[in-house]
Amino acid sequence: MALVAGIDSSTQSCKVVIRDAETGKLVRQGRATHPDGTEVHPDAWWAALQRAIEEAGGLDDVAAVSVAGQQHGMVVLDENGDVVRPALLWNDTRSAGAAADLIAELGGGAAWADAVGIVPVASFTLTKLRWLARHEPENAAKVAAVCLPHDWLTWKLSGSTSLSDLRTDRSDASGTLYWSARSNEYRHDLLELGFGRSLIVPEVLGPTGIAGHLPNGALLGPGAGDNAAAALGTGAAPGDVIVSIGTSGTVFASSEVSPNDPSGTVAGFADTTGRFLPIVVTLNAARVLDAAAKLLNVDHDELSRLALSAPAGADGLVLVPYLEGERTPNRPDATGTVHGLTLRTSTPAHFARAAVEGMLCALADGLDALTASGAVADRIVLVGGGARSEAVRRIAPALFGKPVVVPPPGEYVADGAARQAAWVTAGGDVPPVWSADTPEVYEADPVPRIREQYAAARG
Ligand code: XUL
Repeated sequence: MALVAGIDSSTQSCKVVIRDAETGKLVRQGRATHPDGTEVHPDAWWAALQRAIEEAGGLDDVAAVSVAGQQHGMVVLDENGDVVRPALLWNDTRSAGAAADLIAELGGGAAWADAVGIVPVASFTLTKLRWLARHEPENAAKVAAVCLPHDWLTWKLSGSTSLSDLRTDRSDASGTLYWSARSNEYRHDLLELGFGRSLIVPEVLGPTGIAGHLPNGALLGPGAGDNAAAALGTGAAPGDVIVSIGTSGTVFASSEVSPNDPSGTVAGFADTTGRFLPIVVTLNAARVLDAAAKLLNVDHDELSRLALSAPAGADGLVLVPYLEGERTPNRPDATGTVHGLTLRTSTPAHFARAAVEGMLCALADGLDALTASGAVADRIVLVGGGARSEAVRRIAPALFGKPVVVPPPGEYVADGAARQAAWVTAGGDVPPVWSADTPEVYEADPVPRIREQYAAARG
């Protein structure tokens, strides 16, 4: 039985799954946590990866490995391949000013949407490079190459220290602002616009490209950004829109066409199969539930029970959940707000309900934007830690206005990476088909009032 490994180096932890390449059956797995914060030294990811690999029983017997990971993080390397400074992550908002400057310098959002399919916000790699050039010129002067978290881990696994061996894939390259998913080409001019000079960047591989080898000869696949990997891991079909409630909230679908949204709400990423991945991303998702549970001093099961015990719409109590600023809409300095607090709504149950509804309304706004850009949403595939909440699962269809399909809890990003690794070993034009467990289906009549009261509070 040939085995393959998939890795998910996410914001909060590193997960490794080892699966049968032919059937997809889970054989072993491991995980390790990452440090908190929006600025993390890549060495911490490497250490966590080693621990997760060990817990998964090692990689000696696998034929191929692919690494998926949190997108956009700026990993800067000097000419010796050493990390220049801790990576700034996708949820670090310090480059919001740089994003606004870059939009103005190229002549507006439409110019960026035309050039690379995305419009600068603080999440993307190039805005972080601009911040580095302006705020840490000594560090900036040392930088010879820039890559992304998954590129760096793949390179480390290959054992190379040569910058010319850096590799990435289309899905993650498409979130940098200096690579175009439509033309499949780097825009070195935009990298120079942002950073002030050119840099070495990883070669972009196609869906089954080989990024290198482990010391035991196992193939290293191209890897992927975490959202694109989740699309592969869930086996999403045409008409499926995936909503992932993790550290970020994401709403996306695989598509034949790249969106062109000058407002930047829908970003035109690439997927792992050679197509596109239109996506809307919020900064506030599962951690809204964490914060509400902490504030009410209850666990997640109790938060869910409380939320379901309150009436739909929480009698007008609305939580606008911008607890970490927000990316969609682009309000990096926003804070969360509570509206409609009265004696009647001042109960734990109302607050729990408002937290779940607020988080889901922000994602429902994202779904509207995605479908307005041309994506077809016949049903929603709900994944991520937040999908474990029964309240989320039961309230979601009323706000999304679509049936919500919830696959069994799993590591869908790592699974997508494993499926890519299996594809790399098997070859061919399409990824291998793995059988999937039967999902649960949730349906409910839409309740427009909840979205209306949220829209009024959000402004
Ligand atoms: C996508 C994004 C997040 C991170 C989180 O644009 O910023 O989903 O990839 O891991």
